[in-house]
Amino acid sequence: MARQMVMIGFLQAQNCTNLPASWRHPQSRDDSTSADYYQEIGRILEAGKFHVAFFDDRLAMPDRYGNDHAHTVEYGIRCVKMDPVVVLTCMGMATQKLGLASTASTTYYEPFDVARRFMTLDLMSGGRAAWNVVTSINDGEAHNMGHDIHPDHDLRYDRADEFMEVVLGHWDAWDDGAILNDKSTGRFADPTKVKRLDHAGRFFKSRGPFTVPRSPQGHPVIIQAGASGRGHRFAGRWGEVIFSAGRVPGVAKEGYDAVKGEAAKLGRDPDHIFICNILTPVVGATKAEAEDKMATISKLPLEIDALSLLAEGLNFDFATKGIDEPLTTEELNGMQGLVGLRDGVLRRTGKTNPSARDFIAYSGRGQVESATVGGPKEIADAMEEFFVARACDGFVVAATYVPGGYADFVRHVVPELQRRGLYHLDYAGNTLRENLGLPRPPVGAWKLPASRAAAE
Ligand SMILES: Cc1cc2nc3c(=O)[nH]c(=O)nc-3n(C[C@H](O)[C@H](O)[C@H](O)COP(=O)(O)O)c2cc1C
Repeated sequence: MARQMVMIGFLQAQNCTNLPASWRHPQSRDDSTSADYYQEIGRILEAGKFHVAFFDDRLAMPDRYGNDHAHTVEYGIRCVKMDPVVVLTCMGMATQKLGLASTASTTYYEPFDVARRFMTLDLMSGGRAAWNVVTSINDGEAHNMGHDIHPDHDLRYDRADEFMEVVLGHWDAWDDGAILNDKSTGRFADPTKVKRLDHAGRFFKSRGPFTVPRSPQGHPVIIQAGASGRGHRFAGRWGEVIFSAGRVPGVAKEGYDAVKGEAAKLGRDPDHIFICNILTPVVGATKAEAEDKMATISKLPLEIDALSLLAEGLNFDFATKGIDEPLTTEELNGMQGLVGLRDGVLRRTGKTNPSARDFIAYSGRGQVESATVGGPKEIADAMEEFFVARACDGFVVAATYVPGGYADFVRHVVPELQRRGLYHLDYAGNTLRENLGLPRPPVGAWKLPASRAAAE
């Protein structure tokens, strides 16, 4: 069958979309703390045959700018951040086929807890769950989770590698067919088919046996997002769906080739990894209608939105600098979190020491300049260019307001992509793996053969 796009809705269990100003849009729903708000989005995504509804997460509100949360709360800059797994569960109750993905941090959680939460969601949703593995972003999260500072980049990834071994090890604890439910003999399950993990490593100790049986799709799909070389290695080792943020096909393709290359080195099938690039569409029935919509949307963001989210995303307090003062090399090197964002600004400005104003103008953070604006043809053309160039295998679609941003995409763009044969007409099956075309993993499939593990 011809290769087709994977479609993912980029959601936030918060008071706005990925665009912090979205809540000010005249047609934005203003009940983002209700289940119905997310369930309506879920139904729209499912009508558009989206593979996955995907929630990001953060364990703190953006309060790195000026070390203060007042502006965040006052202007609604992602200041509400609810537990995405609970929100997803509500969404799963209103949908049948839509995949349900949430972010959870390997830096601040325990693997047993994460393994149990996601396997439970997988069972409750009939095999539709996915976990987005992140190593988290900033000191605000550290302060909320019992630490003084956010740990160093590579240390976080080392911990994340071991975290994966514990989670996947626990997910293998119950063999398929372990449950007997035999009322005549009184035997519930076969004890020879339920194993203890007995993990004791550098970062974690976790004994088991795990308390949740395997799900219809084996275990949740693994999603990952990381832009550094270490991040690409991690993605190539563990990721099944990768969230990338390349703005132009050339840059996106570099990341695409890096992750698929890392996977191939480890003997994984690169076609079993779907790299999905961010897309912020502003859609109308025609280009002119879309431009009118964009005119409304582009008036929404404030400068403080960008400054606050830059400070939060890069773990650097931009309030310590004048807005036009160049950042020092030391300050730039000390940035953490979304360092791909910093590197994009360095590349696009061509400056060694850009200022805060350069970061606002060239990062796109909290703003809408990077949106793709158009009617069905223009949006589908832009997507097709990325997809055909193998700069991505699909898209993480970020709405500028909800639910209208998704409704417009489903009404206008989805039929155009289907007409071009670039997107499926319907779900292939029931579980997320069936719908992505991923095989159900046998127990232990994630382990590298000893020869490859040694070369890693
Ligand atoms: C596109 C993208 C999305 C991310 N989303 C999240 C998120 O929702 N929550 C989070 O804590 N970290 C998120 N991260 C941060 C990563 O988990 C990681 O900590 C960070 O990017 C540093 O790794 P890197 O240098 O390999 O990019 C994201 C990173 C990228 C590139």
